[in-house]
Amino acid sequence: MPFPKDFIWGAAAASYQIEGAYNADGKGLSVWDMFCRKPGAVLQGDTGDTACDHYHHYKEDVGLMHQIGLKAYRLSISWPRIIPAGKGAVNPAGLDFYDRLINEILAVGITPWVTLFHWDYPYDLYCQGGWLNPDSPAWFAEYANLVARRLGDRVKHWMTLNEPQVFVNEGHAIGTHAPGDRLGYAQVVRAAYHSLLAHGKGVQSIRAECRDGLVGLALSSETIVPASDSKDDIEMARRCMFWADSDDLWCNSFWMDPIFLGKFPPEWLEHHENLLQPRVDGDLDLISQPVDFFCVNTYFGRVVRAGANGSPEFIAPPAGWPIALNHWHMLPEVLYWVPRFYYERYGKPVYITENGLSCMDWVALDGHVHDPQRIDFTQRYLLQVARSIRDGIDIRGYFHWSILDNFEWAEGYRQRFGLIHLDYLTQKRVLKDSAMWYREVIQSNGANL
Ligand code: GCO
Repeated sequence: MPFPKDFIWGAAAASYQIEGAYNADGKGLSVWDMFCRKPGAVLQGDTGDTACDHYHHYKEDVGLMHQIGLKAYRLSISWPRIIPAGKGAVNPAGLDFYDRLINEILAVGITPWVTLFHWDYPYDLYCQGGWLNPDSPAWFAEYANLVARRLGDRVKHWMTLNEPQVFVNEGHAIGTHAPGDRLGYAQVVRAAYHSLLAHGKGVQSIRAECRDGLVGLALSSETIVPASDSKDDIEMARRCMFWADSDDLWCNSFWMDPIFLGKFPPEWLEHHENLLQPRVDGDLDLISQPVDFFCVNTYFGRVVRAGANGSPEFIAPPAGWPIALNHWHMLPEVLYWVPRFYYERYGKPVYITENGLSCMDWVALDGHVHDPQRIDFTQRYLLQVARSIRDGIDIRGYFHWSILDNFEWAEGYRQRFGLIHLDYLTQKRVLKDSAMWYREVIQSNGANL
């Protein structure tokens, strides 16, 4: 297997999805705390109030990560846990929690990868306009500074934002995620623009407080793979991946080009430039602060071929194609093409910061959790990572989503993504078969795939 010997084998989770303790020890409320209270917003009225109660079970959880043999663990920090109103007064108990957590992780030889913002936005700041407020990038910078100052002596791998595409679109345009708004396009662009500025300022804050830190952000992906290895199909897939003239903000290059190339895609600007307000000189320099890696979260995608008249033809999955519990079609080739397309365009080392499968897992009569689909899924996807590395793409790590079953946003607890099974009534943890299998993958550095 082509995995370099220092390949990072990890797993990931996010604060709101696992921590619980939503009002413990001085924590402020987040937009997700509020959104979950809106009737009909989350399946079955589930909330993250308790979730996996990781806030109280973190030692046990880190012990299990150690048992699996993780080299790295990707976690996120809850902004309102440490700055309850989002700016201003700090909650020392919140900072202490992350201090203890990071120390615990390091003590068992796991490297922490910290995401500053994985969607639990401080509710008080939302009430002041949230991402629409021109001060929002500065609010984020203040928070980033504080965290990097406190943890930067031990945390060396940072991500500013998780999937701005998703929290901007689902939270502000479609309303299916917190804060649940359905704004017009111009306002959504404004929120997006502020989040890009916040990323840039966040990079600066981290660099100022943690000089030897490595920084990036985790992006979700509109993923298109070619139907064949023909040159035309590959070109078509590439074009579809990066073409940005649509009237929604899912297009990859709208987000990635400013950050990694220092410019917006020309075809987007042609029709929408007037929406980038207020824009000032120097904004693009701020947004395109040098970063160290490209982090991509990817699970599924669409298949395209070059149509006869030069237009894309998308190919629907055949009837009965393997599908996850959340209806995402299995498409392992995304882990070949996505790193390749991004590496070729942006030239940064790639880390897969999320990939995994939503299944219906339960504890069997024998007391174990058998999840052969997750094992097979992950094996197929990792083989594509291997193929990509073999073809010269600089992929340096893979973080399985997720370490634990957890709160899957508007889908509540029905979706299970974990390597570890959670009984939400008793908080009992059971390592799934996939966890034991992943342990062997890590131990053999992928040789057993
Ligand atoms: C995301 C989020 C995760 C999800 C995971 C499964 O990528 O959407 O970062 O928090 O839980 O992706 O949907």
